[in-house]
Amino acid sequence: MSTFPATRLRRLRRTGALRGLVRETRLDLADFVLPLFVCPGDGIDRPLEGLPGIAQRSVDELALEVGECMSLGISSVLLFGIPEEKDEEASGAYDDDGIVQRALQSLREEFPGLVLLTDVCLCEYTSHGHCGVIRDGEVSNDETLELLGRTAVSHAEAGADAVCPSDMMDGRVGTIRSALDDTGHEQTAIVAYSAKYASAFYGPFREAAESTPAFGDRRGYQMDPANVREALREVELDIQEGADVVMVKPALPCLDVIRAVRERFDLPIAAYNVSGEYAMVKASAARGWLDERQAALESLTAIKRAGADFVVSYWTKELARWL
Ligand code: PBG
Repeated sequence: MSTFPATRLRRLRRTGALRGLVRETRLDLADFVLPLFVCPGDGIDRPLEGLPGIAQRSVDELALEVGECMSLGISSVLLFGIPEEKDEEASGAYDDDGIVQRALQSLREEFPGLVLLTDVCLCEYTSHGHCGVIRDGEVSNDETLELLGRTAVSHAEAGADAVCPSDMMDGRVGTIRSALDDTGHEQTAIVAYSAKYASAFYGPFREAAESTPAFGDRRGYQMDPANVREALREVELDIQEGADVVMVKPALPCLDVIRAVRERFDLPIAAYNVSGEYAMVKASAARGWLDERQAALESLTAIKRAGADFVVSYWTKELARWL
């Protein structure tokens, strides 16, 4: 085994071109999904304080934004809806004329080649902000499943390519798969938020989606950040129930989880570079404490290096310009 001075690892770091030759991980815009927030109304483009560069938009404005994104080379978006009204049963989530359904119909027609993903969860649609219906002070797993199935079907009918359940109810992937298959949507894929942790890093998103729980927190259904073996069990169950892609979320605090899932399973892995991961860098950059572009590229490279096949990131639009 040769060692120093025969071996000098700095030789291949000397110039940019040499470093490029031996680079192990590259960012490709085709691997990125931009999250978008759609709200009722007309002509609305409301920037979000906690998510600089991201806005709530009405369907007409959303279509303009998507057109611009597509001209930059972005091919996939993930839709979140802010409904007109919220209620105990989250009826806005599975209304065929709901906000996400209307956005899907309009985008599907205008951009046939666009990959349309939708978040399937009740938290934006319930008056209390929890991800399921409440019975006796708790989120009722099995009653929520039926509503998630209806939501997924209505998204598929409106043109979604894939539905992304993010609620963390047990059995949701199987329920959604059967609901889709029973209604002729056997081609609609499921991108399951399988290892979704109860994370502090969702803070800015809850402002954007107006989905902060009115009481308690989500630790009764989202995962404990201390656990990784449990994440593998979640992933395994979702695969058995029919997930086409499994997701790990958040991304940067969970690089080890992404790696562990990569080593154990062969299906595609998505990672969600969440709102707090983005906002931390934006806030530091605004103070001149770090370089945003470099910090973003380093973050996204780390997520890919850990083993993610594609990444949901608020940086996707800026990334299109950087690459
Ligand atoms: C809905 C959902 C959340 C996020 C994605 N889907 C919020 C939550 O679970 O509280 C977070 C995304 C982000 O922080 O960027 N359940």
